[in-house]
Amino acid sequence: MSKFDEIFNRKNSNSFKWDYLEEKFGNNDVLPLWVADMDFKSPKIVSETLEKISSNGFFGYTFKGNEFYNSIVNWIEKRHGWKIDKSNIFTTHGVVNGLSAAINAFSDEGDKIIIQTPVYHPFYKVIETNKREIIRSPLKLKDDKYEMDFDNLNEIIDEKTKILILCNPHNPVGRVWTEQELKKLSDLIIEKDIILLSDEIHSDLIFKPNKHTPIAKLSKEISEKTITFMAPSKTFNLPGLETSYAIIENENYADKFNEVLNSWSITGNNIYGIFGTQTAYSYCESWLEELLDYIYGNYIYLKDFFSSKIPEIKTYPLEGTYLMWINCKSLNMTNDELDNFFIEKVKVGLNPGYIFGKEGEGFQRINIACPRKYLEYFANNFYGALQK
Ligand SMILES: Cc1ncc(COP(=O)(O)O)c(C=O)c1O
Repeated sequence: MSKFDEIFNRKNSNSFKWDYLEEKFGNNDVLPLWVADMDFKSPKIVSETLEKISSNGFFGYTFKGNEFYNSIVNWIEKRHGWKIDKSNIFTTHGVVNGLSAAINAFSDEGDKIIIQTPVYHPFYKVIETNKREIIRSPLKLKDDKYEMDFDNLNEIIDEKTKILILCNPHNPVGRVWTEQELKKLSDLIIEKDIILLSDEIHSDLIFKPNKHTPIAKLSKEISEKTITFMAPSKTFNLPGLETSYAIIENENYADKFNEVLNSWSITGNNIYGIFGTQTAYSYCESWLEELLDYIYGNYIYLKDFFSSKIPEIKTYPLEGTYLMWINCKSLNMTNDELDNFFIEKVKVGLNPGYIFGKEGEGFQRINIACPRKYLEYFANNFYGALQK
């Protein structure tokens, strides 16, 4: 038995995933397999460190010391072979508010921002609420594999286009973009002279033989055009600590970005986020390796379940992230019917594909970072519901 098999009761803890079901699904009686939050405890040494802080009883203003910055620099070099300087790290309280700061720093109201759809739904919101125009460049499905549409990108970028937001690895389709794909994208960004916001929050959740490439590592030219966003939040299940960071190697861009953070007065971070980050990055690499093995096992379990029991449901290779993208079009249901089917019949709460863009209609996103028993429940109920 793996430590990740253990089941914990997370109810009544203000957990968004577990305690928001009535509001989200209109039904409390669903197993939540939705928001990207894992049902695994964070590494023990992280909770022990945070417990020590609690028992100190002081929660005063806290600065980020060398240990914090060094832990990020070392982690990124070790995991991704990218050498960065600590002066290029700017903390935020989340990747999404970092994206918002960058949108404010590098574009004006009415400017165009490209996203590659279907994609993580808050990308739409962060562009819209900042009154910029969303330009969708749908991914192409070629031989059942999602690819970027470079011809389309080439066509749609005009003088009002200021930014492209990349999702690497891509939520929800599970692609880890290859070095060749990223090289091609970086050539385009440089040629068209736009800014790249690269959301790499899932970059530690990669399954072999895939390899994460921070796009800014490819060349000085693309690094000069890129703001990279990373965080320990997905990797170690720490999103509630609200500590993320941007890496900006272009000095002018760094100044502009920092100006926005300063004007919003959000350059500080909370004591738990600072210590949680440095502890996880410094001491928890082997925990991550075990986690990846377990999640990959979950992926294989579900993939095999579908191919043997419900082959009409198509899955896609999970190269990275813990979010599986399943194609349910063969069930021939409308969006509402599919939502109701999963909530009422399968008794699970998933993310319907259409929230990621219209290309996602007929799909569902399932969070597989949970004890395998949960997936067995999902699989049995799914199979059973189709027999009725
Ligand atoms: C691609 C992507 N970016 C950002 C986030 C969330 O970032 P944060 O909570 O740090 O704003 C998620 C969470 O699921 C995500 O999948």
